[in-house]
Amino acid sequence: MVKLPKYCRINYYMNSPLKIHENYSLKHQNTLGLLASARYYVETHTVAELLEALAFARDKKLPVIPLGSGSNVVLGEFLNALVIHINLEGRSVLQRDQNRVVVRAGAGENWHELVLWALTHEAFGLENLSLIPGTVGAAPIQNIGAYGVELKDYFVSLEAVNVESGEIECFDRQACGFGYRDSVFKGEKLDQYIITSVILELDAVLKPRLGYGQLGELVVKRLGNDVPSAFDISQAVCDIRREKLPDPAVIGNAGSFFKNPEILPEEMDNLKKLYPNIVAYPVGQKWKLAAGWLIDQTGLKGKREGAVGTYQNQALVLVNHGGATGQDVLSFSSMIQQKVNEKFGVLLEREPRFYNA
Ligand code: FAD
Ligand code: EPU
Repeated sequence: MVKLPKYCRINYYMNSPLKIHENYSLKHQNTLGLLASARYYVETHTVAELLEALAFARDKKLPVIPLGSGSNVVLGEFLNALVIHINLEGRSVLQRDQNRVVVRAGAGENWHELVLWALTHEAFGLENLSLIPGTVGAAPIQNIGAYGVELKDYFVSLEAVNVESGEIECFDRQACGFGYRDSVFKGEKLDQYIITSVILELDAVLKPRLGYGQLGELVVKRLGNDVPSAFDISQAVCDIRREKLPDPAVIGNAGSFFKNPEILPEEMDNLKKLYPNIVAYPVGQKWKLAAGWLIDQTGLKGKREGAVGTYQNQALVLVNHGGATGQDVLSFSSMIQQKVNEKFGVLLEREPRFYNA
């Protein structure tokens, strides 16, 4: 009989076909490509499997970590937890009239594929959110956003399993408490729910939003005065993103590593006097600073320490040049926070979630 190495061992829990792997490598389950492993790891394709996985963790008195595509996490080297990969599939149109198209998608669906699927079903609005990596179930966690659109603009509700009770609960937009890269699932309800599906209300008629950065310019350059289709906009967004952001398949990264910080008008006045070229946008009563510009100004763009560095074309993106651990990434990011704080008096907040269970 061939003896399987420990990391290949599979536990059959409660006589079910649910495969729970022990000491499972997560190197290919996080887009930073960090060296990390989980004490237990399981793939869940149905809510029943998810509930079973939760029962297993409860039994073992272990925390659970839901994982989608791992594009917004920094993983510690060993996670003493059950990592639950969310594979729940399914996309459907629930309702359609002349103004709106209501769609539902399983949490394990790929976000970008949902965007393209919606466009082929003449359901518009998500085109500016094209090519954001990750799953549908993770999208509400930080209220994903890009090119002037956020998930919350089209969000109706989600269903989620309560980790403690196993009950399925529904959250409408208000209950999700969305903010910039924020929701209740990162705050008061942290680690309490696993999202299983999301409902969105999309536009039946395209309303192009081309106001952000180079997007409008690129569309006009390509189409002149012709009205762009949703696919034209999606393509332009993809092209801009491919130019600016590193492809995780080529070099490990988690997108923007810090949020763009918001400051008060009086703080903005002071900074503007010292740095007349500072990149900032008004947001309500506050100002949002471009964190990439702040880091760039400290001279850290393209710099590295060991395996971790900032991306050469976008200082806000940290990259793994190979062989980095979560701790390496955290140390490098702390150095950036310190340098930016020393120069501008601004504290950068990390965007990806750090797990070190
Ligand atoms: P994961 O990284 O797997 O998980 C992220 C967090 O959500 C973790 O805390 C995890 O536990 C939790 N989670 C995941 N699934 C569930 C679930 N079903 N239920 C409960 N909790 C869950 N983000 C933007 O907003 N805008 C961008 O433009 C953008 N660009 C990016 C570009 C690149 C190149 C990369 C690598 C990342 C970018 N991101 C961007 C960040 C990332 O794509 C999003 O945060 C995305 O929603 C993460 O999805 P995921 O499935 O990979 O989540
Ligand atoms: N900039 C620099 N130097 C740099 C990087 C940026 O000067 O090294 C300047 C740019 O010239 C530009 C400004 O900073 O004037 C903003 O840069 P960019 O347009 O690239 O956008 P961003 O603020 O860095 C944000 C989101 C992205 C999102 C894009 C498009 C955050 C934290 N990041 O990036 O989201 O895709 O806008 O909407 O809000 C993510 O969250 O992971 C992410 C990639």
